[in-house]
Amino acid sequence: MRVAMIGAGYVGLVSGACFADFGHIVTCVDTVAAKIEALKAGQIPIFEPGLAEIVANNVKAERLFFTTSLAEAVAEADAVFIAVGTPSRRGDGHADLSYVYQAARDIAGAIGRYTVVVTKSTVPVGTGDEVERIIRETRPDAEFAVVSNPEFLREGAAIADFKRPDRILVGSEDERARQVMTELYRPLYLNQAPLLFTTRRTAELTKYAANAFLATKITFINEIADLCEQVGGNVQDVARGIGLDNRIGSKFLHAGPGYGGSCFPKDTLALIKTAQDHGAPIRIVETVVAVNDQRKRAMARKVIAALGGSVRGRTVGVLGLTFKPNTDDMRDAPSIAIITALQDAGARIRAHDPEGVEQARLVLDNVDYVDSPYQAADGADALVIVTEWDAFRALDLRRIHALMARPVVVDLRNIYRPDEMAAIGFSYSSVGRENSAG
Ligand code: UDX
Repeated sequence: MRVAMIGAGYVGLVSGACFADFGHIVTCVDTVAAKIEALKAGQIPIFEPGLAEIVANNVKAERLFFTTSLAEAVAEADAVFIAVGTPSRRGDGHADLSYVYQAARDIAGAIGRYTVVVTKSTVPVGTGDEVERIIRETRPDAEFAVVSNPEFLREGAAIADFKRPDRILVGSEDERARQVMTELYRPLYLNQAPLLFTTRRTAELTKYAANAFLATKITFINEIADLCEQVGGNVQDVARGIGLDNRIGSKFLHAGPGYGGSCFPKDTLALIKTAQDHGAPIRIVETVVAVNDQRKRAMARKVIAALGGSVRGRTVGVLGLTFKPNTDDMRDAPSIAIITALQDAGARIRAHDPEGVEQARLVLDNVDYVDSPYQAADGADALVIVTEWDAFRALDLRRIHALMARPVVVDLRNIYRPDEMAAIGFSYSSVGRENSAG
């Protein structure tokens, strides 16, 4: 099959490369000429494990192409995926659909034979109807169907998520389009991944429901963690105790500094707005968003408390800046709110992240970025673990202890054990577990 992927960003690039790996002929289109030139030269604009190899292999096999010419790519395609950004609109939290609608207009002008137009971007319910209307208005003669096929890719694990999905969701009432989608995903389908057909609107809503549910699960365990700290419980044991119940499931029950990233914050807000607009507010998600926002600042207060109530003039070492490991993505990273609050309280920040520093420089001022965890600890009055990169899981703790001005560690990801930290002599606090003093 021939595929055109509109938008060579995170989702477009991963999906395009993986479809090519299945044997389809894929052309990725982007309006940013510099990005297309870089991709043609073999440079991948994002950090995603395994992506560079898949791109290189499929370019070499002449199954994956890059261009700025949408018209050429679309004219040839059996399926055209819209994988452009849908950021939060400034001010009201609604998803900004201007890129999606522009793509629809451009596609309309270029459609040749029967074409399946697929929205891969996360879009509010009813967007597919509007995309269909735009194309129909521009090209009353065109033969096409508009399908919703949301992605469930996690950054850092996107290739594996694409190739071994829990399910593939296809929202379409058009039988011919369903057949094209089945053909496109055949390698996965043959591999037992459930292919779920729904109406277009249901598929659009399902994506938001999935992300909002996961954000709720995280926020729930975070609040249980706060209670554990007050009553002397251990949140990891609680998570295991509830997670072994199949009805609950053990994933997404890691307490931490609150969720961030490019999806959960934006998608929960968009769902809230859609629900309010339709007179069916989802109050549980409204609360989740408010609780998660407050949580990030509360984490800064935790650090201040660990230093006896003030960080003025103190140096705080920060390990991990990205919103999660294995990405360079800083969007809505908890580190931003935590570091800003600590700076407001008078702290000097020295930070290390294996991949995120370049992006962090764009959003965080007055931070001393260093090249290793040990440099971050050197002379610091406290060391805060914000992102659970594997490289932080087996630090030479005695060396860290010797380097620090004061042996205070605040572990917001619970990657160390209170007893081992106490044994080395750290004053150690974490999330939803007992504090320990060495
Ligand atoms: C998410 C969804 O998982 C994916 O299906 C969707 O398509 C896009 O959004 P992503 O944002 O890449 O993917 O990251 P994810 O691994 O889901 O983590 C999101 C945030 O939740 C991170 O800030 C992470 O640290 C946090 N999190 C996750 C927790 O705090 N605790 C957990 O138990 C799980």
